[in-house]
Formats: sequence, structure tokens, C-alpha cells
Amino acid sequence: MLEFKVKSLLVGKLLHFFFSRFGWIAGGLILTFLITACDPGSMMLPGPSGSSNSSSWKEDSFEMQVLMEPFSETETEGTSGNPPIPRVAGEEAGPSHQASIIHNASFESSLHQRIQRLENENTPFLLDKGKGEYWTDIKRDLDQAPSQQEYNRLLEFENCDLQIRELKHLCSALFRQTLSQHPDLLPKCIERDAESAVFSFLESQREEFEAEFAPDGDGNGINTHWIDKLEMDLFQEMADDLHKNGGSSYYFLKFLQEYFPD
Ligand SMILES: *[C@@H]1O[C@H](CO)[C@@H](O)[C@H](O)[C@H]1NC(C)=O
Ligand SMILES: *[C@@H]1O[C@H](CO)[C@@H](O)[C@H](O)[C@H]1NC(C)=O
Repeated sequence: MLEFKVKSLLVGKLLHFFFSRFGWIAGGLILTFLITACDPGSMMLPGPSGSSNSSSWKEDSFEMQVLMEPFSETETEGTSGNPPIPRVAGEEAGPSHQASIIHNASFESSLHQRIQRLENENTPFLLDKGKGEYWTDIKRDLDQAPSQQEYNRLLEFENCDLQIRELKHLCSALFRQTLSQHPDLLPKCIERDAESAVFSFLESQREEFEAEFAPDGDGNGINTHWIDKLEMDLFQEMADDLHKNGGSSYYFLKFLQEYFPD
């Protein structure tokens, strides 16, 4: 019952947020997806229409897990008879099985390469860490994971986190490329330079999500994994929009409005 109330509240909040933020079309799309995700029953039964190749949602198992995760720890305890997340067999392995953690070497190596690629392009989206440091920190955490479950979780988290950084880096390049076609705008910039304006615009997106959704003291609010997912979708949409529509794209105009006012 409580769970239902929390979800209704959340859906109301989502409605308000998405339509005010993304407009009717994109907001509706995201909402439809989220509402489906809120109802694990409907998720388990694929519709009679069979494979739905609808839109660009990639419904891989990671997203399913993320979206079906409970809102808070306490809620999990309350419904312990009926765990909402299908656990992978063997994941229960506790610290006593520490020696048997299987590392996903190929995936670790691809993460490392993706980080190096970003470093080589001198991205500002790797937390200002020195070259190599970003990966060293991740690798240390992976090597110290106390269980297979924690190792897997960490790997997924870092993958998702890195995807967001890659998308920001891509959006940043597209913004700067579009700006370079409008040199007349540069004197209007309210930041030190165009690059800082782009950085600031991209970094402020998550703050908006967090202000809207981050859990408060009572455990209300949205899971941080959801925020990651929303952020990823936003930057993907932004990159597509900038790529397709350049100087007349929705996000470019929004950016100009905030950082290059008349
Ligand atoms: C659905 O996706 C599959 C593989 O991605 C593709 O072969 C097929 O043509 C798609 N069907 C429709 C109706 O788009
Ligand atoms: C390594 O991780 C990736 C991404 O999570 C996964 O798709 C792949 O199956 C994993 N490989 C092994 C051997 O566990």
C-alpha cells in the first residue's frame, strides 16, 4: 500500500517534471518507459505483438535491474518475502568466497581503453584527475571488491558513469563546433569563455535532476541509478539533437538563452 502511494506520488512528480522539462513528445516517451518500468508485472509479460523494436530504448538487463530496483533499503526489508529483483544464482557468495571472485578482464580492459581515449582528448569530464589516475582508482576498487556481487555492481556502475562522461564529452564537442559557426555570439558569453560556458551548462544538468529527485531524509525521491539513467538519456537526446539540427536545435537555443543572453 505504502509502495503504491510512493509510486503515485512519484508518477505525479515525474509528470510535472518531464513535461515541464522536455515538452510533450520527449517527456511522454520517457514517462511511458518509466511507468512501464514501475510495474514489474507488465515487464515480465511481453505483449502479444512479440518483439517490440520500438524507438531507441535499449532494454538490456542492466537497465531492467536499475529500473526495477527498490526505492530504498527499508522497503526491501518490508517485502522480503517477494524480492523485486531477480538475483543471479551464486551472487549470494559472501566475503568468505573472496578468493573466488572472477574478474571480467575483457570488460576491464575496454573500460581502461575508453578512459584513455577520453584522456587523450583532454576532456574536462574526468574529474580533473592526472593522466592514468582515473583508471588506477577504479582498478583499485575493483580489486578490493569484497564479493562477486559487489564486483559486478561496481563494474556496471563504472560503465554507466563512464558512458555519461563520454556523452558529455561528445555534447561538448558538438556545442563548441556549433558555436564556432556563430563567432558573432562570443562577446555575449557570460562565462570566461565559450568552453567554460559549455562545461557549466552540461554539468548543471545533473544538479537539476538531483534537486528534483534526490532522496530526502525520509527516503522519498528517486534512486540515484535512475538519475544516472535519466542523465544518460538526456545527453543522448542532446547529442542527437545537436548533430541533426545544429544551430537551430532545442538544446543549443536553450544553452544560448542561459549563457549568451541578448
Ligand atoms: C526488429 O529488429 C530486428 C533486429 O534488430 C530487425 O531485423 C527487424 O527488421 C526489426 N523489425 C522491425 C519491424 O523493425
Ligand atoms: C563482462 O561484462 C560485460 C558487461 O557487463 C558482460 O556483457 C560480459 O558478459 C561479461 N563477461 C564475463 C566473462 O563475465
